Amino acid sequence: MCGIFAYLNYLIPKKREEILELLVNGLKRLEYRGYDSAGVAVDSAASKDISIIKKTGKVALLEEEIKSRSNELDVSGTVETHCGIAHTRWATHGIPNEVNSHPQRSDPRNGFVVVHNGIITNYKAVQTFLEKKGHVFESETDTEIIAKLIYHFHEQHPNYSFRELVENVVQQLEGAFALCFKSKYFPGECVATRRGSPLLVGIKTATRLATDHIPILYGKEDPPPSPAAEADSNPEHRPHGRGEFPTLPRTGSTSEFEPLEDKQVEYFFASDASAVIEHTNRVIYFEDDDVAAVKNGSLSIHRVRRGGDDPHKREITTLKMELQQIMKGNYDFFMQKEIFEQPESVINTMRGRMNFENGTVTLGGIKEYIPEIKRCRRLMLIGCGTSYHSAVATRQLLEELTELPVMVELASDFLDRTTPVFRDDVCFFISQSGETADTLMALRYCKLRGALIIGITNTVGSSICRESHCGVHINAGPEIGVASTKAYTSQFISLVMFALVMSEDRLSLRQRRQEIITGLKNLQHQIGEVLKLDNKVKLLAEDLYKKKSLLIMGRGFNFATCLEGALKVKELTYMHSEGIMAGELKHGPLALVDETMPVLMIVMRDPVYNKCMNALQQVTARSGKPILICEEGDQETMSYCQKSLEVPKTVDCLQGILTVIPMQLLSFHIAVLKGCNVDCPRNLAKSVTVE
Ligand code: G6P
Repeated sequence: MCGIFAYLNYLIPKKREEILELLVNGLKRLEYRGYDSAGVAVDSAASKDISIIKKTGKVALLEEEIKSRSNELDVSGTVETHCGIAHTRWATHGIPNEVNSHPQRSDPRNGFVVVHNGIITNYKAVQTFLEKKGHVFESETDTEIIAKLIYHFHEQHPNYSFRELVENVVQQLEGAFALCFKSKYFPGECVATRRGSPLLVGIKTATRLATDHIPILYGKEDPPPSPAAEADSNPEHRPHGRGEFPTLPRTGSTSEFEPLEDKQVEYFFASDASAVIEHTNRVIYFEDDDVAAVKNGSLSIHRVRRGGDDPHKREITTLKMELQQIMKGNYDFFMQKEIFEQPESVINTMRGRMNFENGTVTLGGIKEYIPEIKRCRRLMLIGCGTSYHSAVATRQLLEELTELPVMVELASDFLDRTTPVFRDDVCFFISQSGETADTLMALRYCKLRGALIIGITNTVGSSICRESHCGVHINAGPEIGVASTKAYTSQFISLVMFALVMSEDRLSLRQRRQEIITGLKNLQHQIGEVLKLDNKVKLLAEDLYKKKSLLIMGRGFNFATCLEGALKVKELTYMHSEGIMAGELKHGPLALVDETMPVLMIVMRDPVYNKCMNALQQVTARSGKPILICEEGDQETMSYCQKSLEVPKTVDCLQGILTVIPMQLLSFHIAVLKGCNVDCPRNLAKSVTVE
């Protein structure tokens, strides 16, 4: 998904070379989000104009392009105050090429430039309006209308401040966006805003900040109705060149708040904290419709409308994340590092929550809501991709320990069906990033219908966190590899802990709870044991990497591992793979089985063991040669297969945590053998902020 990074230095002399390096480095930190082109805009050396450098492909290519233009860019020159903006684009409107890359510009002289994450849904209407005014569009993007619209407002209202112009622009936009603007008419200034797409600013000063918050400044009156807002319901009302967009009353610039006593300051705008953390840990997360402007080194945050229960300030948060946490360490790939981090990440998920001594579980983020949750009609678990699989993995235990109906839903399908939701439903939104658009839309849908909203996310300050009534941070640490690994096991454990909390006063479940608590206690060690299979898994990968397909079969508590394992194989190796519910084998998939079809089967000594054995025999009877994932030392089961991976035994409902790890390793090794991009698989993004 697209990434934004912008850097503003105020009264701090910097070489142009340093600034460009800083911008490119910021983009590199965002690479994990997935993208197909990149660009930067900086002040041009020779004139007051803006230079835009864009490149299709990786950030490294952009870096080369910048180097090749170092004379023209006067990289050795120094600037005291400067604003540079940068972007990685993941194509939504128009193919990945240089013209469609960001920054997008207002006109051939680059009066205004903008970088954008998200989608503008009414861009056609605005484009038609602007074309009638004589603007000539060069790209196929929705973003270009933003650059041209601000220019249009500037021509109409030459006295408006940069921030006022942006406020007027966003009144006309529909859809989801995070935006960062730069202008040759407002040198050394930067304006940023968001709606539905994450954005934050890091603040760096030589001395400690004199404040821990930034007050919000509000517009004096409500804005006039937006013609663009009406456009959707009636195409006749789209801006069509006859009229003009009504503009907001001016709020004036006298009320600009100066939060920083220290005059020298640097600002880092970014779509996520991983691009900022190496510079500063003091950040402000923006809310929807905040318009943040830096002018004369001072940051102010404005809102046009006074929101219902909107606070009057934005807190400056101190990030606890360390840079090394987001670096690869001794591993070749982030994904590999994240797989091997699981003994620690599962502990971090349980830290401060599981008391193994007295067998109690406390989830601070939802504690107050437990009585309400216990009175609910049903639980709904909603997510996409891997996050959805964590819901599949824990559904059975939730049903068992809560005795409530549990629905597990893919966010996109849930929305397509306009599923009935009631006030006494409790809805969980599971998302590593906390920004997945489908999941966020489903959250808003359920919230509107009065359900209790619980967020299960890995990203503090994310949209899902903020919009939930309460929640559980899974605390897995930053996950950079696009294919999710440690977040899955931590989501799994978070949901298991929730089931334990819900059943704490049930005498009849005491023994069951105790065996699960003991299982959780031993997990760290057992995951370490599973990771020792790495070399063995690599050998299996060598047998498999030239094959076209891999079927993964299992049932009961291990069915989710089949789905998640197949997803990992698809994502990373571009090989076809299918997770098959073993109970469904004879209803279709068995037709695929012959002596050539690669099959992997998960057979544990749990309540569905006999049924799994039945499936295993059906496969071998068709000359299938399944690879087995089974319990350590289970010679009897292993005697049916030539190849097997033995994992330690844990309680049935936690076994999926141990069986998924060989699948993570297998997909990783196949991807390496095939020469695939492990951390950024083709066509995929870490954080999918479009529906
Ligand atoms: C994308 C990623 C997947 C991820 C899914 C849900 O498709 O490529 O790896 O599982 O989004 O992401 P979330 O951040 O909501 O867990």
